[in-house]
Amino acid sequence: MLDSRRPLAVTLVAGVDTSTQSCKVLVVDAATGATVREGRAPHPDGTEVDPAGWWAALIAAVDAAGGLDDVEAISIGGQQHGLVALDGDGRVVRDALLWNDTRSAGAAADLVAEVGADEYARRTGVVPVASFTATKLRWMRDHEPELAARIAAVALPHDWLTWRLRGYGPAGEGPLGPVLDELVTDRSDASGTAYFSATTGEYDLALFELALGRPARVAEPGLHHSGDASAIVLPRVLAPGESVTTDAVTPELRRSQPGLLVAGGAGDNAAAALGLGAIAGDAVVSIGTSGTVFAVSEHPVTDESGTVAGFADAAGFHLPLVATLNAARVLDAGARLLGVDHDELAALALAAEPGAAGLVLRPYFEGERTPNLPDATATLSGMTLASTTRENLARAVIEGMLCGLADGLDAITALGVPAERVLLIGGAARNPAVSAIAAQVLGVPIVVPEPAEYVARGAAVQAAWALTGTRPDWRIATHADVAADPRPHVRAAYAAAP
Ligand code: XUL
Repeated sequence: MLDSRRPLAVTLVAGVDTSTQSCKVLVVDAATGATVREGRAPHPDGTEVDPAGWWAALIAAVDAAGGLDDVEAISIGGQQHGLVALDGDGRVVRDALLWNDTRSAGAAADLVAEVGADEYARRTGVVPVASFTATKLRWMRDHEPELAARIAAVALPHDWLTWRLRGYGPAGEGPLGPVLDELVTDRSDASGTAYFSATTGEYDLALFELALGRPARVAEPGLHHSGDASAIVLPRVLAPGESVTTDAVTPELRRSQPGLLVAGGAGDNAAAALGLGAIAGDAVVSIGTSGTVFAVSEHPVTDESGTVAGFADAAGFHLPLVATLNAARVLDAGARLLGVDHDELAALALAAEPGAAGLVLRPYFEGERTPNLPDATATLSGMTLASTTRENLARAVIEGMLCGLADGLDAITALGVPAERVLLIGGAARNPAVSAIAAQVLGVPIVVPEPAEYVARGAAVQAAWALTGTRPDWRIATHADVAADPRPHVRAAYAAAP
């Protein structure tokens, strides 16, 4: 018989976000999703990084989060794309090239010219840009052939960290040694390589070989693999809810016994969608240093123009995504110009009428990725003596940033993916003028969830899913809920502006 006086034991799971700038660890109650402990540690700067820095940051962040000894499952989400190239001894062949390293832009153009944008979109859901892993492999083939010849396995940042967490690594660093066939990944992050099909759930090995000039095979755990011994190992793709285990104790992670369940992890955008509990019909607009707009879709999408990347999500569906360069920093520029902080910028903007009396900002301060205008600069137009007020300028800044993101959302909905509401996240989402104007510019209901580490939370969702066999349905606290308030003239003036 159950002793009702005994407190029920809490089952803990952990979620990790190994992002571009830092590592964040959340330890959460698997039943409710409530955060019990957390920790973080910074990552080395740069677009070319020694992954050892990520491992050190994971150890420090886990330590700050009180260790993993009482945790039953874990998953690692993180920055998408990138290239971690390993040799046969499990050592990195060179520093990892990250998603924001643009040296492979020429390689991307070469691959698209060789294969065709339509063929790439059809086979992988994406048209390569410099962010994607395939282009970094081609760059290595062309610029570092001796290093490229030493590659024995290719992983994404979160795959490599998952492998190290499980106890694998170069001799002397991972207790279980350099077992490349133990590399695992998930379909969301695999879909950012440009040699994986989100539709079939399989690698396109021919496109991998075209990129690097050497054949690859999928990792096969166990002592004897049946594939070509000289082929490059690609991580095995775990399904949503699937897991592997840690087979060794890594004392640095403050865990005293093996057997921790480890889920497949996810790319950061897919992990955020999971952490937010996004389902089909939901779109997410993330306003950070760069902007991303993505939606959960039940069907795969193909966009030959490359505007929308047809990524997979981490729940068995799809995650069409548009990335923009001009987001939160547009507001910084506006606030700086007006000599105000972000609260005052919001108050000024809300004191102006929608459309800012004709003042329009096209916010391409840093060029733009979507639309593809790498050399563009920002433009302010519609200035008359009447329209040129501080209030209208503040409003034009926020409207311009949101119109750019709305163009991204339009590109997704034009592919038949509905957006019935938008979850607005990122540092700028809490600004009351941003959420109010988003409801006007995007024309759909806006939900601003309470600020939280949604990528790490999404990884924790994966961990709980792996542990219980069911996708958890944790509650998300809402900071603001704004009804749709469409003002099409704002978009029309933006579209017509020079
Ligand atoms: C998506 C992309 C970024 C990275 C950031 O394609 O490049 O959002 O995932 O980590």
